[in-house]
Amino acid sequence: MKKKYYITTPIYYVNAAPHIGHTYTNMAADTLARYHRLLGDDVLFSVGVDENSQKNVEAMEKAGETDIAVFLDRMAGVWKDTWNDLDITYDRFIRTTEPVHHEAVEDFWEAAKESGDIYEGEYEGRYCVGCEAFKTDQELENDRCPLHPNKDLQNVKEKNYFFRASAYREAVLNHIEENPEFIQPESRRNEVINYVRDHFEDFSISREAKYLKVGIPVPGDDSQRIYVWFDALINYLTVAGFGADKEAFNTWWPANLHLVGKDIIKFHCALWPAMLLSVAKQRKDLTLPKKVFAHGFFTVNGQKISKSLGNAIDPRDLVAEYGKDAVRYFLLREIAFGEDGNFSEDRLRERYEHDLMNTLGNLVHRAISMSRKYFDGKIPSSISHDKKYTFADHHGVEKLKKHVDAHLEELRFDRALSVIWNGVDGKFGLVQANQFIDETAPFKLVKEDKEAVGVILYSLLEYLRCIAWLLAPFMPEASITLLQNLGVDFETEKEKGLDANAEWGGLAPHTDLPEPKILFPRLGEVDLES
Ligand code: MSP
Repeated sequence: MKKKYYITTPIYYVNAAPHIGHTYTNMAADTLARYHRLLGDDVLFSVGVDENSQKNVEAMEKAGETDIAVFLDRMAGVWKDTWNDLDITYDRFIRTTEPVHHEAVEDFWEAAKESGDIYEGEYEGRYCVGCEAFKTDQELENDRCPLHPNKDLQNVKEKNYFFRASAYREAVLNHIEENPEFIQPESRRNEVINYVRDHFEDFSISREAKYLKVGIPVPGDDSQRIYVWFDALINYLTVAGFGADKEAFNTWWPANLHLVGKDIIKFHCALWPAMLLSVAKQRKDLTLPKKVFAHGFFTVNGQKISKSLGNAIDPRDLVAEYGKDAVRYFLLREIAFGEDGNFSEDRLRERYEHDLMNTLGNLVHRAISMSRKYFDGKIPSSISHDKKYTFADHHGVEKLKKHVDAHLEELRFDRALSVIWNGVDGKFGLVQANQFIDETAPFKLVKEDKEAVGVILYSLLEYLRCIAWLLAPFMPEASITLLQNLGVDFETEKEKGLDANAEWGGLAPHTDLPEPKILFPRLGEVDLES
């Protein structure tokens, strides 16, 4: 039976267009979705937008508009178009204004109430619209939210419904301790444990409707709107079919992975499991998600990404200049996944020229053009197994793949890519493949020993075929072009799966090598149409 893989990204507020930070999360998730599809798994990859937020209303008002539905429709379109333009292969784009989501939230609310975990109370405190969260005095710095120091806090004193989160403190802690995989990476786990143990209190989960232009009404009390985080987290259930499609729900839930940024780990690893445990008392099929992975945040040229600093880079501009694959490669390779990092266009340019153009592109160019030149436009045959003339073999590629798989299992995209470039124990990487050409010098050897050159070039072409498959989840376009250059059609072959395709020996000697297409053009010459 096929395995299923349900992966989610955060649903983003639509107060502005996507920037490179959101793109980072979605490109990482897309890489995993593509990887699992290639492995033959059934994949559900969901992305979307968090619409019932005051942040969105403020942005609309700032833009001088008055119709929130029109604003939300337009902005949801901007987000969806961006992911389409970047080839993010989502299966579902969820909007929290969809009726099916409202129904799921209502069902969920009713069930939590039945469990005795929703009660009425009065809230008095400070609210940060930037975070969409109440703040305790300990969380403030100089009486302001440290994440949004330019935003005034709202003083709130109103009737609210509360969720009895404190009743689940022990259960959440036990779950975290018994399931080391649940929160990754490790450092984040400790942060959440401390938070749940020392600060996890009952949550206010509604606001008075009179202050809000958006929000799902509290079932049975139209004067209240459901708190945006309570509503937003439930999107992961809506996508799986909660309350609407039992069969789908049994297939997809629990999610295999919620991919999030470190800023929202507490919501996902404390509030969310507590909510699920409460409703699980009514719905036995409601288990906890398997894993939440929080990646780090990155700065742009050392500064926090912010609209006011004007450094909220539009991913579409970057892609127009460097290509989709290069942006994916850079973001996933440059920053250790899970840690904070820095984005600099100079580094992107450097990596483009060094890693992509000179190392991968050049290797492909040399191996293919020599084969075409010396062997009549065909893949040479490999009759000898003289180690001196073979760059890699069955075992070498297997070793490489094992390492890439292991790193991907831990979501260390940076390490997986580093293995492809630098090899394992200094062997079988793209860097060494280039050195191998320099050392064996087929362009000289061809005059003395053409047979040996055939062996050299076959081993390089076959190695590159395997590399193309290993790279497919990370750099889909380059992978398809590289395979095309070797006479292999990605679409027909992909059905065999990644394991079979990345196994040594797929290229048939004496078949035609088509005129190769350039993988990474010189900067300034990127073909915008492709
Ligand atoms: N709407 C909530 C999420 C609800 S999920 C049930 C939200 N939205 S957000 O628009 O503020 O997006 C936060 C997410 O954007 C982060 O978790 C991360 O995925 C991404 N990032 C935003 N800035 C980023 C960086 N500077 N660096 C890396 N990721 C960034 O919170």
